[in-house]
Amino acid sequence: MKHIAVFASGYGSNFIKIHENTLQGKINAKLVLFVSDQPKANAVSYAKQHHIPMFIFHRDDYKKRMEYETIILQYLREHQVDWIILAGYMQKIGSTLLTPYEGRIINIHPSLLPMFKGKDAIKQAWDANAKMTGVTIHYVDEHIDHGKIIAQASIEINHASLKQLEAEIHAIEHDLYTETIIKLLED
Ligand code: GRF
Repeated sequence: MKHIAVFASGYGSNFIKIHENTLQGKINAKLVLFVSDQPKANAVSYAKQHHIPMFIFHRDDYKKRMEYETIILQYLREHQVDWIILAGYMQKIGSTLLTPYEGRIINIHPSLLPMFKGKDAIKQAWDANAKMTGVTIHYVDEHIDHGKIIAQASIEINHASLKQLEAEIHAIEHDLYTETIIKLLED
């Protein structure tokens, strides 16, 4: 069975869904490691409650990205991780992880990339009065929200509020990430 690691900095709804789907056997993998740069994040509490092995760090404790990524790499090797799944991880990935995990790091972003990169992508689309938006899953490279696209799902923006649009996007994310991970692990 393949081993996956999830990196998350926030609430962790994608992380939680992926974990549940591994436990239910929908995703044929074991979630063996959780990584976060936000010790107070809800995702960290969830990982603790579920006794998922983890590495939690403060970005400010390290001068260079390479320093904490070297530690992450040790954890990844110790747990024999095959795939890294980013789910709202708010740090760039550097060459320390990109080189050994080339083609095996994926990210989810709540827009139809290359539109609306960066933070608050759902609000960016809403504020721009865009007709459509969606979700993108892509391979990770050295740039933010960049890299070969693996899957996209689009929706029309016809919602009464930004909150409703966000809720729908998150629901789409959970399904699309699960489906995509299942496919990638099969190959
Ligand atoms: C998601 O919208 C994801 O696309 C983006 O960050 C958000 C994380 O949400 N990269 P959650 O922490 O999984 O609830």
